[in-house]
Amino acid sequence: MRFTYYGQSCFLIETSGKKLLFDPFITGNPQAKDISADSIEADYILVSHGHGDHVADLVSIAKHTGALVLGAFEITEWLAKQGVTHTHPLNFGGRKQLDFGIVKFVHAMHSSVLPDGTYGGNPGGFVITTQEGNFYYSGDTSLMLDMQLIPRYAKLNFAILPVGDNFTMGIDDAVLAAEFIQCSNIIGVHFDTFPYIEINHEEARNKFTLAGLNLTLPKIGETISL
Ligand code: NI
Ligand code: MN
Repeated sequence: MRFTYYGQSCFLIETSGKKLLFDPFITGNPQAKDISADSIEADYILVSHGHGDHVADLVSIAKHTGALVLGAFEITEWLAKQGVTHTHPLNFGGRKQLDFGIVKFVHAMHSSVLPDGTYGGNPGGFVITTQEGNFYYSGDTSLMLDMQLIPRYAKLNFAILPVGDNFTMGIDDAVLAAEFIQCSNIIGVHFDTFPYIEINHEEARNKFTLAGLNLTLPKIGETISL
């Protein structure tokens, strides 16, 4: 599997020859000015919730790629009004079998409203099981006890968690989250994009190391093999 980072919580996972794009937000991200949203390819787009820093490029990338968009029912309803109908609605606890594996939509503790004020349903995360391995993307969330359910659904090879604090978990809670989900290989996202969520990278990595865990803070444009 390969992970490519586009900034904030936007990343691409390549598995079984398929491209899964998460939370497309490039336009308006001052850190991602070297990334061209128009050149991103995707077979699937997975949306955790409706905030602008997760959907800014959703409609345009969905249209130019023709990808199947998965997200909360309310988000797929909103997309239909923007002319994007190749969608699959989910709600908590629901699974969808796709050609690369199974997507399960799980709880996140956050909020969700779309950029035009439309209610976005509940915010969520995804547990993805594939033949090449399993991973969890929590979406924007606080630490929550529900994360202890994740290892019952899948033995994770890696997880993608927000670490920027202020609007989501910070580093200390992300360490606890890694323990809850029983996963030692964490990729941090949702940091440094704006002043509110700037973090000290060395301190963050040290806290994970002290807990016997590995934290990767990817660079924008970087691809990591997993
Ligand atoms: Ni958010
Ligand atoms: Mn966010």
